Amino acid sequence: GAPEPDPVAAARAAAAAATSLDGLRDALGAYPHCDLRHGARNLVFADGSPAARVMIIGEAPGRDEDLQGRPFVGRAGQLLDRMFAAIGLARDSADPASALYIANVSPWRPPQNRDPSGEEIAMLRPFMDRHVALADPDLVILMGNISCEAGLGRRGITRLRGHWAEAYGKPALPMFHPAYLLRNPPAKREAWADLLALRARLSETAK
Ligand code: URA
Repeated sequence: GAPEPDPVAAARAAAAAATSLDGLRDALGAYPHCDLRHGARNLVFADGSPAARVMIIGEAPGRDEDLQGRPFVGRAGQLLDRMFAAIGLARDSADPASALYIANVSPWRPPQNRDPSGEEIAMLRPFMDRHVALADPDLVILMGNISCEAGLGRRGITRLRGHWAEAYGKPALPMFHPAYLLRNPPAKREAWADLLALRARLSETAK
């Protein structure tokens, strides 16, 4: 029979061919190898301003995000908005200095909100590489373990958080996911420290 397509190679080729964010969204919409697409109502590509200095990379859409087609609009998303508002950043800001750009490792809601598998993360990674290259933020925030696995190749958010790393060719700050903070409010202390570290880095490198 015909040779099995390599999903990661196919993802790399499709992502590389995209020359704009709209083109990348279309490439994801046409990518046939990730089964997550079949359980989702909408492709959740991104929200906020692609001109933002800060790009937040979450895990995957949940129910509310799948219904609305926008990332981080449910309870965790509302907390995320409040957290970043506390350091003067907002997804609806027109000024790149105070704007946010927000995407997820998976643009599709996984069934029962399960974690994306290692295979799924591997085939989605070329799309995020291209997404970051096209948006070209100054730095990225890796929200939670799945985002660290995709961006850094490892999990362990409790140890990774608060330490600047490099992902997608950008300085990258792992942080606790707001869904985790909703379950573990005392961890907001660490999240606040990380937000202050982000604010300090942005003002050090202000153009
Ligand atoms: N959690 C995520 O990681 N992303 C979303 O868009 C919503 C919840």
